[in-house]
Amino acid sequence: MDYRLPRGTRDILPQQAALFRRIQDTAVVLSDMYGYGEIHTPIFEYSELFQRGVGESTDIVEKEMYSFQDRGKRSLTLRPEGTAPIVRAFVEHKLYNEAMPARYYYWGPMFRYERPQAGRYRQFWQYGVEMLGTLSPWADVEVIKLGWDFFARLDIPTSLVVNNIGCADDRANYKQSLKQYFNSRPLCDDCNNRLGRNPLRVLDCKNPSCQQQMEDMPLIDQYICTECAQHFDAVLGGLEALDVPFERNPRLVRGLDYYNRTTFEYKTDKLGAQDALGGGGRYDGLVELLGGPSTPAVGFALGIDRLELLMSGKEDPAIRRGFWLVTMESVENQAALWAYKLRDRGVSIDFDLLGRSIKAQFRQADRSNCRWALVLGPDELAKGKGAIRDLVTGQQEEVALDGLVEHVLNLEGVKANGTDT
Ligand code: HAM
Repeated sequence: MDYRLPRGTRDILPQQAALFRRIQDTAVVLSDMYGYGEIHTPIFEYSELFQRGVGESTDIVEKEMYSFQDRGKRSLTLRPEGTAPIVRAFVEHKLYNEAMPARYYYWGPMFRYERPQAGRYRQFWQYGVEMLGTLSPWADVEVIKLGWDFFARLDIPTSLVVNNIGCADDRANYKQSLKQYFNSRPLCDDCNNRLGRNPLRVLDCKNPSCQQQMEDMPLIDQYICTECAQHFDAVLGGLEALDVPFERNPRLVRGLDYYNRTTFEYKTDKLGAQDALGGGGRYDGLVELLGGPSTPAVGFALGIDRLELLMSGKEDPAIRRGFWLVTMESVENQAALWAYKLRDRGVSIDFDLLGRSIKAQFRQADRSNCRWALVLGPDELAKGKGAIRDLVTGQQEEVALDGLVEHVLNLEGVKANGTDT
């Protein structure tokens, strides 16, 4: 039997992990700068959280959840998204008693049973932010701008699409007219089923013949009340003032039930069908729906795997750093102690564990992208010296062993506490 990855999952090997780390570092620095606190929720939750929070008639709940029964016969689900769990935590820990608005960011794997293809996985990673406790249009602007800044910092061109899906009353009217419109038109079985439960979800259907039926459908912008229209105008005004370009698209309803008013997506034209790099919106009713006090909120999640696809090939060239200890078997133990002495001071140093020849050790130093080789052979040690070769310039110098640690620290620019200077 050969063992393979489960379908739709992937390994993140060291080179990709370096890119992943860069994306994560950017997310952390930016979220921190904007005043968002890191939050982590479990990878699995009780299934009802998503059924209720994300919505029974959504694709996620209907078709995509990884749900299982544990030994205690409870139904659990690997989280398909992060917003419902964060709202659950917000309510469970009564975080609404703290200063509002609350700002959180998160980072981690999500799970959806979707048909895998380039940019679409069954385990994928999201970076998300959520702001709870304010209805201000500037909250929507802040969240959208944060995402915009994130892509700019990573030098990824995206376009921003925004829409206003109004309040529950607006959507009730809109759903009514969608129902009338689609009633006389042929739709797939799924859509016919959705039409009865939540006609908005028909808009998520990717089936080409259903898509064709949508061409002349009524659009939500005709059903927006004055208050929701004013809120959205203020959001657009804020984006304009901050020079964030956007395109309005009244078809952008998003595939999760919790949204109201502002919805948005960051798009790319470089990934074919999987063109959404991230999305979000307002969800003013979710906290109450999950048992908390009425608390407006807005947030987004970005797909890290898709970003990584766009960025691969643009990795930083491997930077040469650290030392490789070159030695011989006869003095291996003595040399190894020097390596540990240096490691204790925060120096990155590696040495041969495979009995390689001196030449092969130098080759390995090069392949490992080390900047320097530290040669501690029997001759050097007998003289109370070591030799340091710069693997970029080829220059070599001798250093007395009693000053070796300081010399190495100087070269690497490493302070005594191990942090970079
Ligand atoms: P979402 O649109 O379902 O929103 O997912 C956000 C992003 O996650 C997508 O735009 C995409 O980049 C990425 N993504 C989704 N599914 C996959 C997949 N199967 N493979 C790879 N990437 C994927 C949410 O999840 C909401 N919780 C966002 C939000 C936060 N709304 C308010 N706050």
